[in-house]
This record gives sequence, C-alpha cells and structure tokens, in this order.
Amino acid sequence: EPAPQAAPPGPPADPVAVAMELLSPQGRIDPYPLYATAHRIGPVAGIGGGWFVVAGYDAVNQVLRSTGYGVTGAQISQERRDEHAALALLAPSILESDPPRHTAMRSLIGSVFTPRRIAALEPMIRAAVDELLDGLAESGADGQPVDFMAEFAFRLPVTVICEMLGVPVTDRQRFRRLAAGLTTALEFMTDHSQLAPADAAAVELAAFFGDLIAERRDDSGDAPSDRSDLVGALTAARDADDGRLSEAELLANLTLLLVAGFETTTDLLGNGLQLLFDHPEAARRLRAAGGGQDDVAAFVDEVLRCESPVQVTSRVALAEGLELAGVPIPAGSRLILLIGAANRDPARFPDPDRFDPARPANKPLSFGVGAHVCLGNGLARLEAAVAFPRLLARFPRLAPAGTAPTRRDRVVLRGYETLPVRLTAPP
Ligand code: HEM
Repeated sequence: EPAPQAAPPGPPADPVAVAMELLSPQGRIDPYPLYATAHRIGPVAGIGGGWFVVAGYDAVNQVLRSTGYGVTGAQISQERRDEHAALALLAPSILESDPPRHTAMRSLIGSVFTPRRIAALEPMIRAAVDELLDGLAESGADGQPVDFMAEFAFRLPVTVICEMLGVPVTDRQRFRRLAAGLTTALEFMTDHSQLAPADAAAVELAAFFGDLIAERRDDSGDAPSDRSDLVGALTAARDADDGRLSEAELLANLTLLLVAGFETTTDLLGNGLQLLFDHPEAARRLRAAGGGQDDVAAFVDEVLRCESPVQVTSRVALAEGLELAGVPIPAGSRLILLIGAANRDPARFPDPDRFDPARPANKPLSFGVGAHVCLGNGLARLEAAVAFPRLLARFPRLAPAGTAPTRRDRVVLRGYETLPVRLTAPP
C-alpha cells in the first residue's frame, strides 16, 4: 500500500482564480508560481464560457500540431477587427490565417525567408552588434550605469529586420517607434480601448510599407538588388499574380515580419542577460567556451525555456469530438495555451524551475510547433548566438548596475523595460 501523499503546498487549486491572477499585475510580474498551481490542477482545465486553460507540455504540443484547432477568431472577434486598424492590418497575415490561405502564404513567404537568406545575414548581424557595443561602451564609460534594453536589446532586432526588409537607414528611428507602438496589438487584451496608439501606428506603417512597395514596383526590371530584400521579393511574388498573395496579405505579412521579430527578440536578449547575472557559472562557461556554437545554443535554449519571450498563444477548436488529456473539447471552444507553463511542466522537465543549460533533449515550445512554428526562429537564434559571446568578450566585468531591472507590464510578451548594467568597475 503506498503511503497517502500530503497535499501539495501552495494556494487552492481553482483554475478560474489562476487565470484571473495571471492577468493581474502581480501575475504579470511573476507567473511561475501560478503555472505551478496550474500543473497541480492538471494539463487542461475548463474555466467556463467555452474557455479552457492548457498548461501541460504534451497538451500544448498536441493542440499546436493538430489540424483540429485553428487560429482565426481564437482571440479576436470580427467586430473587434473592424473597429481597430491595428487588428485589421494584421488579420490577413499568416499568424492569423488557417488553411488553405495559411498553407499558400506560408510556402510563399518560406520561399523567400529561407535558412540560406538568414545565414547570409551573419556578417551584417556581427557588424550591427559591434556597432551597438561601441555605443554601449561610450554611454557606459567611467563605470556609468547604462540601460541594456534601450541601448542594445531594443535596437538590434529592429536593425536586423529593417536590413532584411529593405527599410532605408534614414527611416529606422521612425520605424522602431511605429513597430513598438503596433506590438501592443499582439497582446492578450481585455480592454481594447488601450489599442488607440497601436491603431495610429498601424495607419502610419501601412502607408509607409505602401510607399516601399510602390518604389519596388517602379524599379522592377532594372534593379535586381532591390529584389533581394524581402519587400522586393514579396512584391515580386505578389505581382506574379498566381493568386498566392493578395495586396492586403502582402501588407499584413510585411507588417507581421516587423512586429513578430522585434520585441520577441528584444526580450530574448534581455531575459538572457538577466539569467546570466543570476547564474554566474553559466556566464563563466560561456566565456570559457569563447562562443563555441554548442554551448551558446544550449544556453539560448534554456533561456527560451525558462523565460519564454512569448508566454501565451491561443487556438479555437474547429472539429467535433476533440479530446485533450481526457477532457472533451467541444467545437468552438477557445483555448489559452500557456507556453510559459508548458516549458516548466515537471512531467516533461525535471526540476523545471532550475536554470540548467546542460538539460538533455531540451525542447521548449517557445517558438511554437506545427503549422505556425515561428518563421524567424533561425534569425532570432542567430542574433542571440552572435550577441551574447561578443557582449561577454567585450565587457569582462559586465554586471547589474544596482538599480533593479523593471519588467514590462504584459501578459503575452515577457521581457524587461529597463535593465541597468555597468560595463566596467565603478569609478
Ligand atoms: C510565429 C515566437 C522571433 C516571425 C511565432 C510563434 C511563436 C513565435 C510562439 C507561433 C505563434 C502561434 O503558433 O500561435 C517567437 C520568439 C521569437 C521570435 C520567441 C524571438 C525570440 C521572430 C522573428 C521573426 C518572426 C525574428 C521574423 C523576422 C514569425 C512569423 C510567425 C511567427 C512570421 C508566424 C508563422 C505562421 O503563422 O505561420 N513566433 N518569434 N519571429 N514568428 Fe516568431
């Protein structure tokens, strides 16, 4: 006879309370105890009104890989879309489309956003990193504290994606502002009145991309170099006119590439640096490895697992008779998929709250899986793999600057607003 188990510690296991707390200010700052509670409740929990919270690794994995679930309308209703320019602009993008449009657009975008094109960016990424590190060194001369987020983490991803898209250098400041404004549209919204700034950014961005597209069309034929950027390549694909991409889809996907790759990668960089501060042995290892590919990749995977930049995504049940971890899921149900919780599922990752880059078979769900798996995951990994070793090599005494870092107040995108650091010993 096994001995009866003591009740696990922690707050009472009510899934509705857990979901509400995750949306609260405290839950946004530190969701991990709530995720642990969610795991005690079970991999899937109904919270009423046709909503389910999915926390288990296997269950999230299964939903993302299944054709029984879709993205369209999973979170945002048609009326909301019509009311908000930000939501309307992104609605025809791959992120929010189901087959057959998703399949067609994904293969088209995948054909220009190739691993080869991404690998070819490495020299540009190195140059961008080194230029930003020069800027950091200047701001942080004489042991002055500098904000790693403002001076580095917010700048690198947008620089890289602008290079890829073909956004002129002179427009990048404005672009960064607009991208940051629009990113709120990716958030889990309970109060849509907060979308006004994102709507304004969307209108400006749409006009801006419209101009870039028109320029590529004027140049077509005589400037092959313009075709090699993503705006040129996707515009050419659109104009091949085989029905694979509408004008609204062209605009939506260009905008998506900008916003999907911006704050997510920013957060990977910020979250990774703070984890290095919290785990000096990991920093020592990375320094000793001198940027060895495997060590850096293992470190980045564990950062992604422990502090996933994207914490939540959602799906809607399309088919009848679905079942998840033994729970029946009626058609039309909406699922909140807690990627951040799945990454800390004790059934999948032993001692899940421990940061350990040496974990075997570390496969976090941070980039999603299945049909919508992140198109930019290779690019984000490359940026991190270039940035961390160079940052550590350049500033051997890099340390937190005394003032505590601050978190951004978000549910979906987890990252720092500020992360003050010192590059050299204080004066
Ligand atoms: C999709 C995360 C960087 C472009 C996704 C999804 C996740 C994700 C979780 C799937 C969402 C779902 O299935 O509901 C991340 C993280 C990043 C990152 C954590 C950085 C650390 C990037 C970059 C780009 C990018 C750099 C491009 C420049 C996309 C696109 C999709 C996507 C286009 C939609 C794919 C589709 O719907 O078929 N990303 N992403 N992402 N990501 Fe990323």
